[in-house]
Amino acid sequence: MTDLDLVNEPMICRLGESRKPAEPCSIVIFGASGDLTARKLIPALYHLFKEKQMPVAFRVVGFARREKTDESWRQELRIALDQFSRTKPVDETVWREFAANLVYCQGDLTDAGAYQKLECLLTGFGSGPLRENLLFYLAISPSQFGEVVEHVHRAGLLNKDGAAWQRIVVEKPFGHDLNSAHALNNELTRFAHERQVFRIDHYLGKETVQNILMFRFSNSIFERLWNRESVDHVQITVSEKLGVGGRGGYYEEAGALRDMVQNHMLQVLALITMEPPVSLEAEAIRDEKVKLLKSIRPLRSDEVLRQVVRGQYFAGMVGGESRPGYRQEIKVRPDSHVETFVALKLFIDNWRWSGVPFYLRTGKNLPMSASEVRIQFRSTPNVLFAAQCGERLDSNALTLRLQPNEGISLRFNGKVPGTSLAVRPVRMHFSYDSEFGAYTPEAYERLLLEAMVGDATLFIRRDEVETAWQIVDSIRAGWEGKALTNREFYAAGTWGPIAAEELLARAGHAWHEPQGRK
Ligand SMILES: NC(=O)c1ccc[n+]([C@@H]2O[C@H](COP(=O)([O-])OP(=O)(O)OC[C@H]3O[C@@H](n4cnc5c(N)ncnc54)[C@H](OP(=O)(O)O)[C@@H]3O)[C@@H](O)[C@H]2O)c1
Repeated sequence: MTDLDLVNEPMICRLGESRKPAEPCSIVIFGASGDLTARKLIPALYHLFKEKQMPVAFRVVGFARREKTDESWRQELRIALDQFSRTKPVDETVWREFAANLVYCQGDLTDAGAYQKLECLLTGFGSGPLRENLLFYLAISPSQFGEVVEHVHRAGLLNKDGAAWQRIVVEKPFGHDLNSAHALNNELTRFAHERQVFRIDHYLGKETVQNILMFRFSNSIFERLWNRESVDHVQITVSEKLGVGGRGGYYEEAGALRDMVQNHMLQVLALITMEPPVSLEAEAIRDEKVKLLKSIRPLRSDEVLRQVVRGQYFAGMVGGESRPGYRQEIKVRPDSHVETFVALKLFIDNWRWSGVPFYLRTGKNLPMSASEVRIQFRSTPNVLFAAQCGERLDSNALTLRLQPNEGISLRFNGKVPGTSLAVRPVRMHFSYDSEFGAYTPEAYERLLLEAMVGDATLFIRRDEVETAWQIVDSIRAGWEGKALTNREFYAAGTWGPIAAEELLARAGHAWHEPQGRK
């Protein structure tokens, strides 16, 4: 084997890599006629099947209230697949083979009899793993979780202990504050162990988010710089070009802080800043994430005013398209004070990060859709090139782009060719697609597979959820009773209220514009 062959060898160990194939099982989807099932879950399962990653035997049982036959449910899903599949056209032969495993169970979640029907249906698959190994996917409102978990337990489908396994997968929102999250977690664990509960944050299923830990802990050059000695500040941007659209009703209860910061952004922050775990086991990684979240300095009310900027969009143009203001969106109160933008400055009070500002921003109707993390390194002493290059040299930056165009780039200074001594920032760039080809599985594919295998690394543990709520609750407490002021509104299509720029400018920093889809 040559050195070149070695470079091209695939990595032996990947974070969250399924260490064993998924065992035969049945996946029961509660909410089978809903948007999530058609848009994400069935396309993901279809692709896992196509890639031969599904167990050798499996069933997908869809449970919902509407009357449907197995056949009509399959037909609806097939139509949806044309729209939502990441590979087109849909392979008809693969679909037919896959669809033969889809079964519909009509019932009301509140009706005990419906769970007896479900039990009979599962028993009809035999007395083996298709009846006993059960993954319950709750694609329903969190207010229904407690009732469903109790019913499936009473129907003999969910046990805390036994030779077979049963797991519950739940979607965000995991509550709307610490108290409600605590109550929800209590409901989920009344009839199941915490280790049976898989809380999905689809961000953690993204290849680039998983790569954060790989990148940090398998490369010596960067990890040595990953601390307060070398890092000046960090920016995390998750910007969305879309407004709230038809989700006004949901958004009125959530807002940007709860919708994005409590889960995705704090998860990304934790992965970027946590200490090396003792192993790649789920609990070891989650322990480090919780430790990190606990080191985030909680904000007092006066600090919220100084360190957190909220905003709400009014009518404007995004990419040449005119957009209504948030208060004109469907199911939004005309005097709503819900934030559609938030920018915050956080500090992590631990040995590694003390004094380093972490800036997070997210919002709707921003100029582009992009998610990225930018590690801004400290500047060099301004002695050698001051005369030729003006005030300051550009400082080095490492950008982890989570979407779109997933990749990593390093910005440093290079000499402009020629006789003069001019310096210009240049970029070294790694792109997933060009390096590994275009195969990037959807987050839900990875997450569903991990849930079947029983690896909880990419799912959120109870204490992570509750610690993240403590941080968010402290910010909300600072906003309590305070209406949005004029300075907090921004035109759709801009980067949020001016106060978000001022938040960084006060410390001599400026937001970096991400590379995204304009
Ligand atoms: N959609 C997404 O992309 C997305 C993303 C992240 C998280 N989530 C979360 O995932 C969950 C589901 O979202 P969704 O968008 O799929 O919702 P949805 O389109 O409103 O679907 C809700 C589903 O629940 C079923 N349902 C409601 N009440 C029922 C009852 N009493 N008995 C039986 N079935 C009942 C509905 O069945 P019938 O219509 O037959 O009554 C329908 O299948 C929500 O908690 C949401 O916050 C969704």
